[in-house]
Formats: sequence, C-alpha cells, structure tokens
Amino acid sequence: MARKPIIAGNWKMYKTQSEAADLANGLASAVGTYDKVDVVVCPTYTSLEVVAQAIKGTNIKLGAQNCHFEAEGAFTGEISLAMLKEIGVEFVIVGHSERRQYFGETDAAINKKAAAIYKAGLTPIICVGERLEEREGGKTSDVVTQQVKGCLADLPADKVAASVIAYEPVWAIGTGKTASKEQAQEVHALIRKVVAEMFSQQVADAVRIQYGGSVKAENARELMAQSDVDGALVGGAALKADSFAGIIKYE
Ligand code: PGA
Repeated sequence: MARKPIIAGNWKMYKTQSEAADLANGLASAVGTYDKVDVVVCPTYTSLEVVAQAIKGTNIKLGAQNCHFEAEGAFTGEISLAMLKEIGVEFVIVGHSERRQYFGETDAAINKKAAAIYKAGLTPIICVGERLEEREGGKTSDVVTQQVKGCLADLPADKVAASVIAYEPVWAIGTGKTASKEQAQEVHALIRKVVAEMFSQQVADAVRIQYGGSVKAENARELMAQSDVDGALVGGAALKADSFAGIIKYE
C-alpha cells in the first residue's frame, strides 16, 4: 500500500517562455535526479515545449493546467489532449478552483475531461476543495464528497486507482494560510473513504491524494507526514527553483 509521493508545481499564468526555460533548467539541476518523490511541473501551454526540452533525461515529468475533452473541432482557443501528448505531457490538472470560479468549470465538465485524459493515456490531477464560507458553515464534508462523486462518476476503477486527486481548500490557495495538518488529514481520509465507497478499498488505497494551498518548504514535512497525504500541489512556492526544491526534498 506504499504510495509514492507526488509533488506538482502549478505555474498558473506566470512565466514567459524564456522565464519558464530558466526555471525548468534550475529545477533540472536541483532535483533532476531525485527519485524519492514523483515531480511534475505544469507550465502554461506556450511554455510546454521549452520546458519539455529542459527536463529531458531528468526524473521531472510534464503536466498541463487544463485541456479540452473533445478530440478536435471548432473550439476556438482550446487545446486537445493529442496536442499535449505530442509535446510529452503526462499529467493534466483539471478542476482547479480558479477554473471553477472564473471559467465556470463544473464537476460534470471535469468528469468528461478526466475520461478524455484516460482515453489519451494520460493522468489527471483532479482538484476539489471547499470555499471559506462553506468551511465556516460546516459544509466541508458535504461539498468535497459531492465534488469527488461528480468528478469521478462512472470512470473506470483501474484508471481512478492510478490518478491523482488534489485537495485544495480554496481559502488556503495563494493566501499564505495553510490548512493545519489535522484539517488536511481529515479531508484526505474523507476523500479516500468516498473513493472506497464508489469503487473499492483497493482503488482507494492506490489513488494518490495531494494537498494544495500555501504549501512551502517550512510546512511540507508535517503535511506530508499525515497518513492520507501523498503529495502536494504547489502554486506560489513552485515559481522559484530553490523553494520548490525545498518542498520536494521535504524529508
Ligand atoms: P498556492 O497555490 O501554493 O500558491 O497556494 C496552490 C494551487 O493553486 O494549486
């Protein structure tokens, strides 16, 4: 039941192509041969190619921040999974709270994207998490349960087992306010329970659940020490090679 930790950097809408190449080169030197955790970097679409070149031959894997669920078609401004795959993308973040909040992404759309990601042979990082008013209103369990059920509905069990779920409380993203290790563990255990109920205990034991929300080198260790925390999805602290390397080498 040993799950290999997976730490991913979500670069959001930061870094031009040349800046992204610099960061990727810095990471390749700092953690390129480190193999205690799986390391993924998720630059913007326009930097995927240069980052792919910079991390070639290292242990660092490439991820995208979004995708479209159709194979191709008249969808102006969208990017297909075949396009991502050709560049060397292995992971795709779906359902990030910023996409839910600003781009109207729903659990149903995330579910379609996850199915398409499996079909393309890639791995989704499926994001869930409650907003501040939901936590304060005692609705965290209900909200997260509903998101997990909606995002994973009718997906193939073996693919779900190999997927990554990211628990990102919205109030902790980019705020400097991290969930306590107890708060994180509680919701991670809940997510695993919901996955067990939907699929099987075996699937629940295999799926990796990342915590995201103001993760930094200083708090990574105690979060990662929780039994159901299998990694981190990192925003701000992933934008500099030394701070991201500090998280990756949290041990
Ligand atoms: P943060 O972002 O680490 O800057 O809080 C996390 C995320 O949005 O994935």
